[in-house]
Amino acid sequence: MGRLGITLLAALMSSLPCWLGAPCPPVPTPSNITQFVCTSPSLSSFPTGFPEETLMISVEFTNLSSIGPDALQKLPKLQELHLSSNQLRSLPGSLFRDLPALRVLDLTNNLLEDLPPEIVDSYSPLQHLVLNGNRLGALEPAWFRTLGALEWLDVSNNRLQALPPNCFQNLSSLKSLDLSNNHLDRLAPELLAGLPSLERLNLEGNQLHSIVEHTFDQMLHLRYLFLQHNHLSSLPARLFQKLGRLGHLDLYNNSLTSLAPCFSEQNLTLELDLSGNPWACDCAMLSFMQWATGRSVGLYALQHTRCGTPENLKGQTVAAATKDTLSASCPAAPAERPSPCSLPQGQAP
Ligand SMILES: *[C@@H]1O[C@H](CO)[C@@H](O)[C@H](O)[C@H]1NC(C)=O
Ligand SMILES: *[C@@H]1O[C@H](CO)[C@@H](O)[C@H](O)[C@H]1NC(C)=O
Ligand SMILES: *[C@@H]1O[C@H](CO)[C@@H](O)[C@H](O)[C@H]1NC(C)=O
Ligand SMILES: *[C@@H]1O[C@H](CO)[C@@H](O)[C@H](O)[C@H]1NC(C)=O
Ligand SMILES: *[C@@H]1O[C@H](CO)[C@@H](O)[C@H](O)[C@H]1NC(C)=O
Repeated sequence: MGRLGITLLAALMSSLPCWLGAPCPPVPTPSNITQFVCTSPSLSSFPTGFPEETLMISVEFTNLSSIGPDALQKLPKLQELHLSSNQLRSLPGSLFRDLPALRVLDLTNNLLEDLPPEIVDSYSPLQHLVLNGNRLGALEPAWFRTLGALEWLDVSNNRLQALPPNCFQNLSSLKSLDLSNNHLDRLAPELLAGLPSLERLNLEGNQLHSIVEHTFDQMLHLRYLFLQHNHLSSLPARLFQKLGRLGHLDLYNNSLTSLAPCFSEQNLTLELDLSGNPWACDCAMLSFMQWATGRSVGLYALQHTRCGTPENLKGQTVAAATKDTLSASCPAAPAERPSPCSLPQGQAP
């Protein structure tokens, strides 16, 4: 994770749902307890006897390897189900079908290779779906079709290789999508088009070599974009141009040599991590740095933002190289420079 990522982690964690628990398995005394937390490491079957009023069940850090298809019957008010850190390899198709109030489903750190064809079969109020740390090799569009209320989807730390272009088509409420630490080597340009509410997109730790020009164009509310630890070697000049709310962009540890100063200029306030890339320290880089200096663009980790070329500047910080060598050798910027955003498609300035 880049430096920017670490500073943001706390902010992200604090928006996860939180809860307080009570005894589990339920004891058959009359009471109005509605939240149950099971933590016995040897528990290997899903407890029974939850009252109909139950709002939250947590069976985490236990030893469940399977759940029966009827385990979650008669829980019409259940809002949160936490099943993280078990040994679940698969889930029965009808498991979640009678949970009309379910808002949070956490399946973090199991052994899931697949999910039931439709997680829920009719429209569901589910808001948080966490599948982090499983063995999913693919995502099925059908899983998400009924999840129009979903705001938080975490599929990080799985084995995803390619995503179907229509995968996230109906997730119009989604605010946070975490696809980090998978094996993605490309993104279909239409993949993210159905996510108009997205504010955070995490693609850290994949194998992306490039990203097609219009991939991010529909995400007008995007504020956080994490692209660190990929293999990006060049990006289309106008890739970020439509992202009028972009505030944090992390490009740490890629193979980039140049970046166009082509961001939405309206209200621009941007924190940028460009470290760990072999930047070409040429006159274009000088103009990029001059552009950043004249605006509210904060550059992180400048000590680790270094030149890869030319040979005589290799290893120097970009900041030092632009300040000394380049500002002496590059022609002074013309007063009226054409905006790099208006250059022909795909051409860097
Ligand atoms: C229900 O819980 C509340 C506190 O959450 C308590 O004050 C009340 O006495 C309980 N009622 C019953 C019938 O147990
Ligand atoms: C968990 O279950 C497996 C069998 O499925 C068993 O071998 C193991 O000992 C159990 N672990 C604990 C902590 O009970
Ligand atoms: C998305 O939802 C609309 C209704 O809200 C529905 O007509 C459409 O078929 C859904 N798309 C997919 C891919 O299921
Ligand atoms: C950079 O990213 C690669 C994956 O692209 C990873 O293997 C490597 O450990 C990362 N390097 C650093 C210094 O984090
Ligand atoms: C620009 O930012 C200010 C302060 O954050 C905000 O009040 C204003 O609405 C923004 N304008 C646009 C066009 O986004």
